[in-house]
Amino acid sequence: MPSKSYGLLGALIVMLIVDWPWPVRVARAMSISMERSDGSQELMKLNDTGSSLFHLPTQLNEYEVLEELGRLTLASMNQSVDPCEDFYEYACGNWKQADLVPQRARNNTFLNGIQYSVNEMMVKYLKNATDKELKLNNAESKAKAFFASCVRMSKDMSVGYRLLLEMEEFSLNWTDLKRTNETLDWININFLSQYGMYPLLPLKVHYETESRMFDVLLSTSGNVLGNSDVVDLKNLTRDFKIENEKELKQFNDEFELVLEFEKNLTMHSGRRNETEVLSLGEFKLKHKEDALNWTRYFDIAFNGSAKNDWTVQNTIADVNPLAHFLHKTDLATLRTYLKWRTIVKFHYIWKFETSDNSTESSCREHTEQYFNYALLPWFIDNVYDADRRADILQLAKHIKETFYDLLGKYTWLDDETRSHAKTKLRAMDITVGYSDEMRHREVINKVYEDVEIGDNWYKNLQMVEKNRARVRMRSVNRAIIPPLMSTRDVNAYYADFLNLVFIGIGISQAPFYHFKYPPSIKFSGIGNIIGHEMAHGFDSYCYQYNYDGKKQNWWTEASLRNFKERYRCMESQYNKFIFHGVLTNGTLTSGDNIADNVGTRISYHAYLNSYGNLDGDKKPLPGLNLTNKQLYFLKFAQTWCSGKEDAYKVRRMKTDVHAYEEFRVIGTLQNMPEFSEVYNCKLGSDMNPLKKCVIW
Ligand SMILES: *[C@@H]1O[C@H](CO)[C@@H](O)[C@H](O)[C@H]1NC(C)=O
Ligand SMILES: *[C@@H]1O[C@H](CO)[C@@H](O)[C@H](O)[C@H]1NC(C)=O
Ligand SMILES: *[C@@H]1O[C@H](CO)[C@@H](O)[C@H](O)[C@H]1NC(C)=O
Ligand SMILES: *[C@@H]1O[C@H](CO)[C@@H](O)[C@H](O)[C@H]1NC(C)=O
Ligand SMILES: *[C@@H]1O[C@H](CO)[C@@H](O)[C@H](O)[C@H]1NC(C)=O
Ligand SMILES: *[C@@H]1O[C@H](CO)[C@@H](O)[C@H](O)[C@H]1NC(C)=O
Ligand SMILES: *[C@@H]1O[C@H](CO)[C@@H](O)[C@H](O)[C@H]1NC(C)=O
Ligand SMILES: *[C@@H]1O[C@H](CO)[C@@H](O)[C@H](O)[C@H]1NC(C)=O
Ligand SMILES: *[C@@H]1O[C@H](CO)[C@@H](O)[C@H](O)[C@H]1NC(C)=O
Ligand SMILES: *[C@@H]1O[C@H](CO)[C@@H](O)[C@H](O)[C@H]1NC(C)=O
Ligand SMILES: *[C@@H]1O[C@H](CO)[C@@H](O)[C@H](O)[C@H]1NC(C)=O
Ligand SMILES: *[C@@H]1O[C@H](CO)[C@@H](O)[C@H](O)[C@H]1NC(C)=O
Ligand SMILES: [Zn+2]
Repeated sequence: MPSKSYGLLGALIVMLIVDWPWPVRVARAMSISMERSDGSQELMKLNDTGSSLFHLPTQLNEYEVLEELGRLTLASMNQSVDPCEDFYEYACGNWKQADLVPQRARNNTFLNGIQYSVNEMMVKYLKNATDKELKLNNAESKAKAFFASCVRMSKDMSVGYRLLLEMEEFSLNWTDLKRTNETLDWININFLSQYGMYPLLPLKVHYETESRMFDVLLSTSGNVLGNSDVVDLKNLTRDFKIENEKELKQFNDEFELVLEFEKNLTMHSGRRNETEVLSLGEFKLKHKEDALNWTRYFDIAFNGSAKNDWTVQNTIADVNPLAHFLHKTDLATLRTYLKWRTIVKFHYIWKFETSDNSTESSCREHTEQYFNYALLPWFIDNVYDADRRADILQLAKHIKETFYDLLGKYTWLDDETRSHAKTKLRAMDITVGYSDEMRHREVINKVYEDVEIGDNWYKNLQMVEKNRARVRMRSVNRAIIPPLMSTRDVNAYYADFLNLVFIGIGISQAPFYHFKYPPSIKFSGIGNIIGHEMAHGFDSYCYQYNYDGKKQNWWTEASLRNFKERYRCMESQYNKFIFHGVLTNGTLTSGDNIADNVGTRISYHAYLNSYGNLDGDKKPLPGLNLTNKQLYFLKFAQTWCSGKEDAYKVRRMKTDVHAYEEFRVIGTLQNMPEFSEVYNCKLGSDMNPLKKCVIW
C-alpha cells in the first residue's frame, strides 16, 4: 500500500488511491465566470421523519434551526446519568430511542445518519429526469442515463456475455489485420484490450505517492483464471446460459486451454526482490539485450506517445523466459486468453450488480463511482455554497492559528523540534469540499465527452470502463492528486504524503454543521473534525513525515523521546477500557486517539480565543439549560452517538483504527481539565481522573 491516511469512518482512502481512474484536472487555468448559488433558490423539501434534521439541505430561519437542534440534542441525551460519571451515556444514552433520528441511523452512528440523507438525495436526483433530458449530451444527463439503465438492467448476464464476444478485439478479422503489413506478435495482442487489461506482460499506470505523479508499473502476470475464489466454471456457464451441448463443450475446452496457458505464463515470470526504478530512456537502454523490443512494447502501449523521461517501475525479475515463451505460443491462444480475462473481469462486476435486491441504492453507488465529477456541480449548488465554504475555512484558520500558538507553549518540546513542527503546521494545506474548477459544467462535460450512454446497461458499463482505461493511460507523468474520497462522503481525511487536510461537503451538513449554528457548535462539530485531521499530522504515525509530506526525521532525540513517552501514556489509557469483558487496543487506535484528543482541545481553545469571552456563558439553544462552553463538549460527544450492535462492534475490534465511540468521548474528555471545569466534575470522579495524558 502506497500510503497510510485516515478517514474518520474507515480506511477507505488507501483503496481509492490505488484504484482511482481520474486523470487530469482538465483545465486548471480556465477562467469561466462562476455561477454562484445565492442560497435562496427553491430547494427540495425532504421531510419524511417529521423534521428537516438529517435532511439536506435545511433552509429554515435561525430560530427554527436552533430550536430543532435543541430538540435533537435533548432527545439523544439521558439526563438521569451524572455527566461526571459517564459523559457518553449522559450525551447519547437515548440515541437508540430518539424519534428525531431516522430509524436506520439509530442503530448506527450520527454521521451515518447524515450519509443516509446524502445518499437518499442522490437517488432522488438521479431519478428525476425526463426522457428528453436523458438524451442530452452533458455529463449530468449521462450520469442519469447510466443510473436509469442500471435500474432497468436485465439481470441476465448472458446479455453482457454475448456483447463482449462481439467486441472488436475478439471479432476482428485476423486475416485482414495481417494484410496491413504490420508484424503481428504477442505485444500487439497484449495491448488489444480497450479496458486496461494487458495480461501477458502487465503494464499499469500507477499513482506514486512519493513523487505525487502517475508512472508506469511493469509487473508479472498473476493466477486469475486458476483462482477458484474468482472463477468457477460452472457459475460462468450457468450465468451465461450456455446450455447447448456443442457450445458447452467448446466453452469448457477453451477454458482448459487458457487455464493451462495461464499456468505456463505464471511459471515463466518471477518478481524481482527490489523494484527497479528508472526513467523510460534509461530503462530501454539497460534492457536493450532483453528478448523483447521494449521500444516497440511502449510504442504500442501508448500509441507512440511514450516519453523517455517517464518513470518506470519494474518488478519483473528476468523477462527473457517469458518473452521466449510468449513468442513461441500461437497468437490464437494468446488472443483467447485475453478474451477470457476480459470476460472474467466483467463477470466479476456483473455479479455484484445483478445479485443485489436494493437496486436503486447499488445503482447509485455504481453511478457515483463512474460519474463522481458529473454529479458535483449539482451537488455543490444544492447543498453547499461559497458562503458555507468560506465559513468553514475561516473556522479552520482560527484552529490552525490556535494550534500554532499552542506549539509555542509545550515545554517538553525543544526549540529545534518546535520550529520544525511549526513549519509543518504552517505548510499544511486545508481543502474544504472541492476545488473551484469542479463547479464548471463545461470542464466536467469535457471529461465525459467520449462517453456515450444508451439504454443497455451492459453496453454502458463497457463504455465507462473503456473511458476509465483511456483516461488512465493518458495520465502518465502528470502531477495531479487523485481525489482520495468522494466529496459527498460524510468523512474527512489527512493525507501524510501531501500534508493535506480535506473536509468533505458531506460532513459539512446539518445536524453536524449549519451556517446558522452558534460558534460553539460549529467549533465543536466541524471544527473538531478539522482539528482532528490537522492533529493527524502530528500523531504516532505521521510524525515521521515532514512539512512536504516526505518521510524524514525532523525530531531531536530528546523531543522524540518525550513525544513517545506522552503517546504511550495515552496508549495505556486506551488499553484499559473494557468492552464486553475484552480490553480494547490502545496501540491499534493510537493515531486516532491522539487526533481526537488534540482536535477537541485545539478547537475548544480556538473557540475561546475567537468567541469564548463574549458568549461562553450564554445559553444559545432554546429548551436547553446549557452554556456554550457546556454545549461544546456535549456536541462533541453527540458526534459519536451510536446504536451499533455489540456483535458488530466486537467484530471490528481487531481491525478498526478508531476506538469505540464511547471511548473516543470518554478517553478524550478524561484528559481535559477544560471539560471538568465547565461541568464541575470533581477531581477523582470517573470523568476527571488524576492522571491526564496530554500530547499536543
Ligand atoms: C415536517 O413535517 C412535520 C410533520 O409532518 C411538520 O409539522 C413540519 O412542519 C414539517 N417541516 C417542514 C420544514 O416542512
Ligand atoms: C426535477 O428536476 C427539475 C428540472 O431539473 C426540477 O425543476 C425539479 O424541481 C426536480 N424535482 C425534484 C423532486 O427534485
Ligand atoms: C476474413 O477475411 C478474409 C479475407 O477478406 C475472408 O476470406 C474471411 O472469410 C474473413 N473471415 C471472417 C470470419 O469474416
Ligand atoms: C505490404 O507489403 C507488400 C510488399 O512489401 C506490398 O506490396 C503491399 O502493398 C503492402 N501492403 C500494404 C497494405 O501496405
Ligand atoms: C458460484 O455461485 C455460487 C452460487 O451463486 C456462489 O455461492 C459462489 O460464490 C460462486 N463462486 C464464485 C467463485 O463466484
Ligand atoms: C504449457 O507448457 C507445456 C510444457 O512446456 C506445453 O507442453 C504446453 O503446450 C503449454 N501449453 C500452453 C497452452 O501454453
Ligand atoms: C534476491 O533474492 C535472492 C533469493 O532470495 C538472493 O539470492 C539475491 O541475493 C537477492 N538479490 C538482491 C539484490 O537482494
Ligand atoms: C524496436 O522497435 C522499434 C519500434 O517499433 C523499431 O523502430 C526498432 O527498429 C526495433 N529495434 C529492434 C532492434 O528491432
Ligand atoms: C431478493 O429478491 C428475491 C425475489 O424478489 C427474494 O426471493 C430474495 O429473498 C431477495 N434476497 C434478499 C437478500 O433480500
Ligand atoms: C494491538 O494492536 C497492535 C497493532 O495492530 C498489535 O501489534 C497488538 O498485537 C495488539 N494487541 C493485542 C493485545 O491484541
Ligand atoms: C439552569 O442551570 C442552572 C445552573 O446549572 C441552575 O441553577 C438553574 O436552576 C437551571 N434552570 C433551569 C430552568 O433548569
Ligand atoms: C442495523 O440494523 C439492521 C437491520 O436490523 C442490520 O442489518 C444492521 O447490520 C444494523 N447495523 C449496525 C451497525 O448494527
Ligand atoms: Zn482520524
